[in-house]
Amino acid sequence: MSSKPRVLVTRHLPPKVEARLGRDYDARLNPEDRLYGTEELLKLAEGCDALLGCPTDKLNADTIQRLPASIKALATFSVGHEHIDLAACKARNIAVSNTPDVLTDATADIAMLLMLAAARRAHEGEKLVREKRWGSWAPTGMLGTHVTGKRLGIVGMGRIGQAVAKRARAFDMQILYSNRSRLKPELEQGAAYFADPDDMLPQCDFLSLHCPATPETVKFLNAARIARLPDGAIVVNTARGAVVDDAALIAALTSGKLAAAGLDVFDGEPKVNPGYLPLENAFLLPHVGSATHDTRDAMGMRCLDNLDAFFAGRAMPHRVA
Ligand code: DGY
Repeated sequence: MSSKPRVLVTRHLPPKVEARLGRDYDARLNPEDRLYGTEELLKLAEGCDALLGCPTDKLNADTIQRLPASIKALATFSVGHEHIDLAACKARNIAVSNTPDVLTDATADIAMLLMLAAARRAHEGEKLVREKRWGSWAPTGMLGTHVTGKRLGIVGMGRIGQAVAKRARAFDMQILYSNRSRLKPELEQGAAYFADPDDMLPQCDFLSLHCPATPETVKFLNAARIARLPDGAIVVNTARGAVVDDAALIAALTSGKLAAAGLDVFDGEPKVNPGYLPLENAFLLPHVGSATHDTRDAMGMRCLDNLDAFFAGRAMPHRVA
């Protein structure tokens, strides 16, 4: 019998991460990358000491309560942890860790990609070329929204929000932000702070969402808040789909109240509200904020650093519960 801790790894992970898992753990891998339903996950977890999971695992209170008593730690391959009932983990004395920092740059890059793509009508232009419908260059063809010098409002000025601000400054954008607390001047770097996001919205040519999905932020961007944005504003979401009221956003994109939106995350993903699909002014990506080779390797290593610490009796460096 192996003396290494036994870990159920719910998804197929990058090769370097699985190699380290194989070296240091008795790892129950998922090479076919099947999505486990709750019952299958619970069965596979039998006899395991820890779980290395992903946002695709819905670890609600009921599932946590039903996990085998042998499970003592849970490392999520994500910075977001809204898919895990942390209170239930605490009640069961299961230590939970996440993967902050290492996905900041990759996610901020995708926010910029969405912003530029939405502003410059990348989806429409791409289609035009691929479908051989591109007639000729035209002085008035494919005109989009100018980015340089515009005002960017950031909701949630944590690590990723700050990384987006840094990139946007290179585009000479003015940075406005709303956050639970005001940043220190050295982090704020001249950005204008709004304690109440509703006061910021009328001044945002672009709005980028970076707040976690919590009961307070669900459907944050609703019809009333969209109405406060200037006409022709552009919205970007790399946070969580749940912070947007899809019906309101679709209505605003359809009416022209908003010029465009760039979305990497969706409420109920991988299902996407069908109202987005015909919209030429919606640039849509399948939750690839952290999807670079380097970032996904680093996320996996971070999960293992946390599990290593836990099983060595040390504090997990990124413990969230
Ligand atoms: C996270 O880590 O929460 C991301 O959304 C995955 O890219």
